[in-house]
Amino acid sequence: CGIIGCVGMGAETLDTLVHGLSKLEYRGYDSAGVALASPADPTVEIVKKAGELDNLRTALADGGTPAGTVGIGHTRWSTHGPPTDGNAHPHTDAEGRVAVVHNGIIENYQALRDELTDEGVEFRSDTDTEVVPHLVSRNLEAGMDAESAFRDAVSRLDGSYALACVVAGVEAVFVAREDSPLVLGVGEDRTFLGSDVPAFREFTDQVVYLEDGEFARIDGDGFVVSTADGTVVEKQVHTVEWDPEETGKSGYDHFMLKEIHEQPRSLRQCLQGRVDELAGQVTLEELPSLSPTRVHLVAAGTSYHAALYGAHLLQERGIPAQPFYAHEYASFTPPGDDALVVGVSQSGETADTLAAMREAHRRGADTLAVTNTVGSTLARESDHVLYIRSGPEIGVAATKTFASQLTALNLLTLSIAAGREARDVIASLRDLPGDVQAVLDDSKAEQVASAFADSDSYFFIGRGLHFPVALEGALKLKEISYEHAEGFAAGELKHGPLALVTENTPVFALVTGDGEAARKTIGNVKEVEARGAPVVAITDGLSDVGRYADYVLPIPESHPRVAPILANVQLQLVAYHVANQLGRPIDKPRNLAKSVTVE
Ligand code: G6P
Repeated sequence: CGIIGCVGMGAETLDTLVHGLSKLEYRGYDSAGVALASPADPTVEIVKKAGELDNLRTALADGGTPAGTVGIGHTRWSTHGPPTDGNAHPHTDAEGRVAVVHNGIIENYQALRDELTDEGVEFRSDTDTEVVPHLVSRNLEAGMDAESAFRDAVSRLDGSYALACVVAGVEAVFVAREDSPLVLGVGEDRTFLGSDVPAFREFTDQVVYLEDGEFARIDGDGFVVSTADGTVVEKQVHTVEWDPEETGKSGYDHFMLKEIHEQPRSLRQCLQGRVDELAGQVTLEELPSLSPTRVHLVAAGTSYHAALYGAHLLQERGIPAQPFYAHEYASFTPPGDDALVVGVSQSGETADTLAAMREAHRRGADTLAVTNTVGSTLARESDHVLYIRSGPEIGVAATKTFASQLTALNLLTLSIAAGREARDVIASLRDLPGDVQAVLDDSKAEQVASAFADSDSYFFIGRGLHFPVALEGALKLKEISYEHAEGFAAGELKHGPLALVTENTPVFALVTGDGEAARKTIGNVKEVEARGAPVVAITDGLSDVGRYADYVLPIPESHPRVAPILANVQLQLVAYHVANQLGRPIDKPRNLAKSVTVE
């Protein structure tokens, strides 16, 4: 879900909120709403609607535009109660004096709800959030000022929250953060808040990251951040370096396609200043010298595939390394507090990954975040951070950030345990942005997608370092096309999945080099070909896999550690074009969120 808020925008307050919500759509949502207060009005005006932002726009146009000058807005992704108008945020008290938006989960909401119900409060939604405006309202009735009423209400909450609250007649927004991201934007005579910088990036590049346990009051004059006991905190103001245009589509039909095409640049950024080709060395300035005896990598979704790849790289260099689904880590952690625990997360806000990292921390492990998001919770809570430097990714399906995760994990491995191969890997990494560009310039993926857009199922096979990319190719396709797809370690296909192979199940085979792995995967290709399945080979042409394939999607020759990143670009394009031909809403697939901040 997403939060936006602003004070000081005058007559443009509503437009600023709706614009902010449109910038947050990428986080995934199922309803949206706004609340505006003005000094003279004894109630807060609230408009909220289930469904797309357009439903909210229509409701605003139909209902007479709210004219308040202090506002908050929200895109909701349901956790308590189905997506309905009533469950959409903002939530309010009985009199409509208080409005609240919330990301996160209030764990003790049932007890609070019972307490308030006993006092005669009538609840109008199924959400956990609604307890907050009622608590604030009760405090106002008891004579507290707006800020104290809000702070006292928050002190009653257990769980995770980014909260923003407006009170009728008060020219300020009150916010609190615990385990859910919240950023302030500081402009001249105007102040913003957001769950994420793109919400207000158009208006300012000056931002302040709130920490867990912090409160803030924002008004036209600026902001005051304080802790629960009221101590004022001096905050550093950061300047964000990317342009507002970077969050636009720049002429592409979809953010996903734009982000696929941005990879040469984002990879260059990831590598910049970190590789010394002459010396065959990688320097990661932000990291101390690490020499772990073993490594655990924790992650979810696409980032898990990067973790699997990273573990494989480290193992190749003789470092015992194991990937874990973050949500399984607590139950399966093998003993040993000597492990370096690496959390891989684009957003740095995935609740499962944060929980696993906190578990690692409790056990005394050294923790390292590999993330795209500066100032994210993961970055701030980890002992060390390696940024992948992709820039903002708006499409729900991760593309450029996956490529940068694989690249950053290559750099990490070289910095921990470089061997004689370092120089060759570095040379391929240097060529990577150009090689990705070559794939983009000349890909036949759209043609392949046309040929197979009405298939029953899609299979992806790869061996070694290509296995994580086979999994990712399948995930990408299913996320955005809603078609069934599965990735397999190439050798596993014959142990069961082969039963599913027909002439209507294309098999995408990742084959590079001409060694043992290529030879064996070609054997697997022959097995599916013999059962009538069409084969698409993603290959550098060094083997004869093309002879057994119906289509070839070529990639430049590269080091075996780097080739999977190139192969992945072809699979991204296949997924994109299949989904596009099926008319799917590519940037906002149903049921999915960019960042899942609940466990
Ligand atoms: C969600 C997204 C996935 C993403 C996963 C992990 O499920 O839909 O695309 O891979 O979260 O996100 P992270 O930000 O931790 O990489």
